[in-house]
Amino acid sequence: MHIAVLTGGGDCPGLNAVIRAVTRTCIADYACTVTGVINGWRGLITRETMPLNRNVVSGILPQGGTILGTSRTNPFNEEEGVERILHNIQGLGIDAVVAIGGEDTLGVAKRLHEEHRVQVVGVPKTIDNDLAGTDYTFGFDTAVHIATQAIDRLHSTAESHNRIMVVEVMGRNTGWIAVMSGIAGGADAILIPEFPLTVEEMCDLMRRRIGRGKHFAIVVVSEGAKIVWASGREEAVLQTAETDAFGHARFGGVGTAVAKVLEDCLKIETRVTTLGYVQRGGTPTSRDRILATRFGVKAGEMVQEFEWGKMAALKGDHIEAIPLADAVVARKTVPLELYQVARIFFG
Ligand code: F6P
Repeated sequence: MHIAVLTGGGDCPGLNAVIRAVTRTCIADYACTVTGVINGWRGLITRETMPLNRNVVSGILPQGGTILGTSRTNPFNEEEGVERILHNIQGLGIDAVVAIGGEDTLGVAKRLHEEHRVQVVGVPKTIDNDLAGTDYTFGFDTAVHIATQAIDRLHSTAESHNRIMVVEVMGRNTGWIAVMSGIAGGADAILIPEFPLTVEEMCDLMRRRIGRGKHFAIVVVSEGAKIVWASGREEAVLQTAETDAFGHARFGGVGTAVAKVLEDCLKIETRVTTLGYVQRGGTPTSRDRILATRFGVKAGEMVQEFEWGKMAALKGDHIEAIPLADAVVARKTVPLELYQVARIFFG
């Protein structure tokens, strides 16, 4: 069999571990030919590929990013995008595509399978951890680890200067990174899109904290959180209203807006740190390396078992094959139960 592997969407720690695992599984156990597609779906449109073999994937396990490159290309949004992909798959003699990505990349994989009978297998990736059907995505643990380290370090300045330190973390439409790093780092308030805290509630929490003699605080804000007032007024902060090929606006800046409202009501010096792409870069944690490797091995096995239109998913401690449709049907949001754990430590 000839298998193509591609990585799409935002880069994420653990992508190389998956590429390595798929390649090693398919070559060693099943004597397949494995080809890497450059820059996600774009490479299948432009026919840019590279061979993958034991040598090429040697040493990449701990490396961040993706040796294949990535893009946010949506072939269904491009003139003749899908036709060119079908033409190139046939021309290159590719039997199956292993697509490693989040909701967008896997959404394309699902449509190519359902509408054009392309033989696809998916692997769930995103630092945001918002993909349904799998308990965790790889990359998330690394992002949480980096954010937690940042919160730990920001405590020094917060405490020494009697300041409120606002930390803006990624997560787009869900607050997974914010809640998990906030719990791990002992945040005094956490703002996420799922369960908004009003400005008044935030200020009350901080006032109570100050009343207990604590003149500093750490506030973690998820980039997609809105600023909400008790009156019902809401403010969403975007870096740009322009959307990408999948219709996503670019977040960024809500931390600064939160700092301003806190400073206005509390009259305490407040500073902002936006972690941004730092959360996506560098070497994956051991947990992410292991999860990515298990996903990659499972994807290789799924190819051999002709489990098309499915995705490797973590359920408890088992890796299972689930329909791609179950993964892209809706976003996995932070459950109230988890947010309640974080809330106990607010203020
Ligand atoms: O989905 C991962 C993610 O890092 C989000 O947390 C963030 O909103 C988005 O990607 C940023 O996308 P881009 O790399 O296109 O700026």
